[in-house]
Amino acid sequence: MNTPVVVAENLTRHYDVKGGLFSKGGTVRAVSETSFKLEPGKTLAVVGESGCGKSTLARLITMIEEPTSGTFAIGGDNVTPETWARHRADVQIVFQDPYGSLNPRQRIGSILEEPLKINRPDMPAAEREAKARDMLKLVGLRPEHFDRYPHMFSGGQRQRIAVARALMLEPKVLVLDEPVSALDLSIQSQILNLLVDLQERLGLAYLFISHDLSVVKHMADDIIVMYLGRPVEVGPKAEIFAKPRHPYTKALLSATPMADPKAKKTRIKLEGELPSPLNVPAGCAFAPRCWKVKDKCRAERPTLGDEGHPAACFFPEA
Ligand SMILES: Nc1ncnc2c1ncn2[C@@H]1O[C@H](COP(=O)(O)OP(=O)(O)OP(=O)(O)O)[C@@H](O)[C@H]1O
Ligand SMILES: [Mg+2]
Repeated sequence: MNTPVVVAENLTRHYDVKGGLFSKGGTVRAVSETSFKLEPGKTLAVVGESGCGKSTLARLITMIEEPTSGTFAIGGDNVTPETWARHRADVQIVFQDPYGSLNPRQRIGSILEEPLKINRPDMPAAEREAKARDMLKLVGLRPEHFDRYPHMFSGGQRQRIAVARALMLEPKVLVLDEPVSALDLSIQSQILNLLVDLQERLGLAYLFISHDLSVVKHMADDIIVMYLGRPVEVGPKAEIFAKPRHPYTKALLSATPMADPKAKKTRIKLEGELPSPLNVPAGCAFAPRCWKVKDKCRAERPTLGDEGHPAACFFPEA
């Protein structure tokens, strides 16, 4: 195993919310006690239903928000408000929406140069421009695109620009939050292939967030399955797909059409609503929807081990 570039331990982010006319106040447990490692050149995919805490995790790792508790280290150095500044450039993020994320009034060249202007104010303008032009090429765009505005590009090209901008500060880690969900299917694979290619060339570690398991199957080395803010299963991609251990993972996989006609598929239909992170059930949070639930599951929360391919379940599949 490579030396990890990011080590996250028990990351937790809770939000205290006030009650409103139709809602009770309380604590939203967006992410609780989540641990993982990111290795150079590898992709850790985060999967789970809407609201399970994927983007919150992304914001913590990108230092957009501070964790309520828990720690993470970059290159062995703990990230704290005191050390943020020197790690900011190491982790960059690409968001889902390539339309909202680029300033329509800025030319592409200036969009790419901006991170350098802010973080390396002493860099000569000519060097900055040269770096931006190199990056444009690296993501598969043409030199004449440098002076154009975002509205002149397709969604796929805009996502290339967003990736280029994220790479300008030579980060070690790229957080990709649903980077292709907003794109046409035919364009998705081009962007995914670009990301694979960039990872190989630059040795980047990816935290890859997606609710699309066929995309995850293409991209991931390892997978972390989240449910209501907690990881419920972690392991190498091949094992998670071939032998899911947590009932929730099994249900997720069974609901995804995969390009494997031989795969036996019995769709597991989850009963009941996804509970709110404002009101996480006691015991196993998945118990109210689980078809294998026993008394113990409602009384006690199963913990996730840390060996091999752990699942937070008292009665996992073999
Ligand atoms: N600033 C905030 N204040 C209060 N609650 C929040 C805040 N940010 C996120 N949440 C809540 O935390 C939970 C996790 O949100 P998050 O955006 O991380 O989910 P997600 O897995 O990214 O979902 P999606 O797949 O829809 O993008 C949700 O219930 C969300 O409403
Ligand atoms: Mg999200």
